[in-house]
Amino acid sequence: MTASIIDGKIISAEVRAEAKLEVERFTELYKTKPCLAVVLVGENPASQVYVRTKSKMAKEIGMDVEDHIKQKDISEEDLIGIIYELNNNKRVNGILVQLPLPDHIDSRVIIDAIDPKKDADGFHALNVGRNSIGGDLLKKSFVPCTPLGCFLMLKRSVPNLAGMHAVIIGRSNIVGKPMAQLLLEESCTVTIVHSKTKDLETITRQADILVAAVGKPLMVKADWIKSGAIVIDVGINRVESLDDTSKTKLVGDVDFANAINIASAITPVPGGVGPMTIACLLKNTVEAAFRQQN
Ligand code: GUN
Repeated sequence: MTASIIDGKIISAEVRAEAKLEVERFTELYKTKPCLAVVLVGENPASQVYVRTKSKMAKEIGMDVEDHIKQKDISEEDLIGIIYELNNNKRVNGILVQLPLPDHIDSRVIIDAIDPKKDADGFHALNVGRNSIGGDLLKKSFVPCTPLGCFLMLKRSVPNLAGMHAVIIGRSNIVGKPMAQLLLEESCTVTIVHSKTKDLETITRQADILVAAVGKPLMVKADWIKSGAIVIDVGINRVESLDDTSKTKLVGDVDFANAINIASAITPVPGGVGPMTIACLLKNTVEAAFRQQN
């Protein structure tokens, strides 16, 4: 079997096109553009790239973007002050604080300082709680962008996920846990495995849907995958290129070259989950803008 490729570039372009239409509708109705505030602390090169890309793509679909770039030694108190200003600024509809933050700042304190109605990342405790309760409350919450992107890709492959066994590798608050909530809401049987799980491969081999979100290059081997499974690879790992050791390349958490012969559908890296994350951020931001008007 050769798996079909779930193309994040194509699906994310569709999600961005839908968000663009919503931005136009909002701008026409309220005579102002939806606005995303992006907060970056310090000089983490990967974070700088992410933030630049997010700002660029938001502008491309007609949103306003405010970049707030802060020195790495900013105090937690001062950063909270910036968040409060953004909360009170009526022009700002969505707030994103790029993670990780420097060690002297408690990320949870900063995230929970964000107005939950402007929490474009869906990381605020209130949104996490609503996502966990599910049902109608999901409509009032914001779902974290990476799991939402994975979920939209999965639904393209299999519209009805009920009864499928989903195994998620990784228990992070950004991906693993919210992904589990989304799949439970779809009536999947969900297992989360992590670094302390015994006999991990035995469990992954039972998965109809396998989501890898660990950040370990090529960790998931082809023989960890059940024949015909759908594989979603969240990993974005930069490694030395085998062809030319002076160069680097991006690989996922899954050994794609071999997994493609076992799975029925698989996301590539790059060009899979990555582009979906930003598209979902735009979707959440314009949704936030509309909700704030009602
Ligand atoms: N760092 C890694 N992923 C994310 C994300 O989805 N949102 C934010 N704010 N920071 C991140």
